[in-house]
Amino acid sequence: MRHSTRGQVDPFIVMDVMEAAQRAEAQGRHIIHMEVGQPGTPAPEGARRALAGALDQPLGYTSALGLPTLRQGIADLYRRWYGVDLDPGRVVVTSGSSGAFLLAFSALFDAGDKVAMGFPGYPSYRQILKAMSLEPVGIQTRPEDRYQPRPTDIPDGVQGLILASPGNPSGTVLNVPELRALTDAAQAKGVAVISDEIYHGLSYGDRCHSALEVTDEVFVVNSFSKYFSMTGWRIGWMVVPPEQVRTVERLAQNMFICPPHASQIAALAALDCADEAEANLAVYAENRRLMLQELPKAGFDRIAPPEGAFYIYADVSHLTDDSVALAAEILEHAGVAVTPGLDFDPVRGGQTLRFSYARATADIAEGLRRLTEYMARR
Ligand SMILES: Cc1ncc(COP(=O)(O)O)c(C=O)c1O
Repeated sequence: MRHSTRGQVDPFIVMDVMEAAQRAEAQGRHIIHMEVGQPGTPAPEGARRALAGALDQPLGYTSALGLPTLRQGIADLYRRWYGVDLDPGRVVVTSGSSGAFLLAFSALFDAGDKVAMGFPGYPSYRQILKAMSLEPVGIQTRPEDRYQPRPTDIPDGVQGLILASPGNPSGTVLNVPELRALTDAAQAKGVAVISDEIYHGLSYGDRCHSALEVTDEVFVVNSFSKYFSMTGWRIGWMVVPPEQVRTVERLAQNMFICPPHASQIAALAALDCADEAEANLAVYAENRRLMLQELPKAGFDRIAPPEGAFYIYADVSHLTDDSVALAAEILEHAGVAVTPGLDFDPVRGGQTLRFSYARATADIAEGLRRLTEYMARR
């Protein structure tokens, strides 16, 4: 059978780590999961109840851009979170933020176009781009810049730039002047900006700032997956400039027909479940405190300031050049699954690891105990 070259994307290494961890569990071992980038908690109770109450409805197709009530609810969130007055007509409900990337890249770029992004960064950006015959261009960010790109880093000859704040794997956040400088520099070069804001709500100091606070010339991507604890429900959204709405609508009609109706009902109710989401955030905050206290004792002391999300990205160049082997060794001997940095940075990721602290605090405490004990006897 023939196959395309653009379809030959790299595997998501964290998935391979998860499988290795599951194999170990099948053999009866107890593994602490610091590799997975998802909450261990269910969707908010209000969301689950709303769906249960809707199960007798036909739940057929909705309009391609999503339920009007949900688009309005998301626009209201922008007023609450950022003080931004957003026209719900600019909100596009999507099949997770992953669906939003397909729509954004299709609306903005032609085959062969180049799209820049900071390394380390979320691996699927570059794989989705490749699968769409677009060319990812990595920017080597610096630890002293909290692994975020500088305006002067935007390469010549690119058509797009992906920003991520809080970033995955770094957890680092762009402040308002940084967002303004980056979006201004991109606009001056005629570069379209896509701002990935899917970890908003999960911050441990000041609130996160949206690119929409500094410009309307941006595609903002967000999701119910993380703050609202709804990864498997596959529901996210995108805010686009007014003149792009019809283009995105036509693409959404043809690519997806509509985002999942059942999940839209649950997501609408989740918007009113701030108490539960904030309770989850309090658990992450405690986990983060423990991680920052204990990881250095295990020898992982070169870490990016984790201002948001639920990750810590550690430079382990003093320990190894082969993060895949180190992660395998830690899984084997300490019973803790962690993610090698190669997923996030194909150039320098051999010397980094990502630790996720999205699980229950007792698990995080046990994982840290095991890591400290193993690294001391290694
Ligand atoms: C930075 C970033 N963007 C996007 C996604 C995809 O999320 P979703 O579940 O909304 O498709 C993830 C998932 O981990 C992520 O870390």
